[in-house]
Amino acid sequence: MSEKVQRMFSDISGDYDLLNDLLSFGRHRLWKKRFVSKIPMNDGGRHLDVATGTGDIAREVVRQSDGKVRVVGVDFSESMIIKAKYCKDCDWTNLEFQVGDATDLIFDSEYFDSVSISFGIRNIPGLVNAINEMSRVLKPGGILAIMEFGTPDAPFRWFYNFYSKTFMPFVGKIISGHSDAYTYLPETIKVFPYGANFKRILLDTGNFTDVRYEKMELGTVYAYYCVKK
Ligand SMILES: C[S@@+](CC[C@H](N)C(=O)[O-])C[C@H]1O[C@@H](n2cnc3c(N)ncnc32)[C@H](O)[C@@H]1O
Repeated sequence: MSEKVQRMFSDISGDYDLLNDLLSFGRHRLWKKRFVSKIPMNDGGRHLDVATGTGDIAREVVRQSDGKVRVVGVDFSESMIIKAKYCKDCDWTNLEFQVGDATDLIFDSEYFDSVSISFGIRNIPGLVNAINEMSRVLKPGGILAIMEFGTPDAPFRWFYNFYSKTFMPFVGKIISGHSDAYTYLPETIKVFPYGANFKRILLDTGNFTDVRYEKMELGTVYAYYCVKK
């Protein structure tokens, strides 16, 4: 399963940024800025972005911290990491990208002040293992920040159903040439827990003292902020 997901993301990596812009009508940039702005960070701290893809969140952390936080982005797709590294204007002093698996991170325990994962967690089989692993590398009191899709409430749901069942696979196929990927993505969104249900799963791992979440875009996107015990 995870090899199939890895291959799928590698296959679409070339068109991934363009598709994100088209499929979110450019709004993923705003969600990402807002998501990062709510993660507390201190100068000299360390941040890990898991399932970093082409590196949007990692670069946003560098930008919002004025380069004063050391940022590492990891993704198990080498093609995504190659794209993340291809950035002419980036300040690389405190930024690094590596190939790595969310379920088997190479970092020492309690190494990072904050960890993020944006639109990655629902693709990882063994959800609780991944949460435990990301939490392992966090310092006590550190923040695990997760951004993921949810299913919007009625009456917006009819539009969303059309969008995810028809528009997304159609545009995804035209641009990337891969019909599977943009059918798979809405299918995983449909079954993934969100809001209070996902908060319960996070708390039940026993890793966190507090979990808060924010609903965005009428419930299409959720951001969760978990404080490590
Ligand atoms: C939808 S993309 C999100 C990319 C980026 N975080 C963003 O917000 O645009 C999901 C990413 O998760 C990565 N991914 C999925 N499972 C992973 C795992 N087990 N370990 C590391 N990366 C993984 C994929 O390769 C892909 O780049």
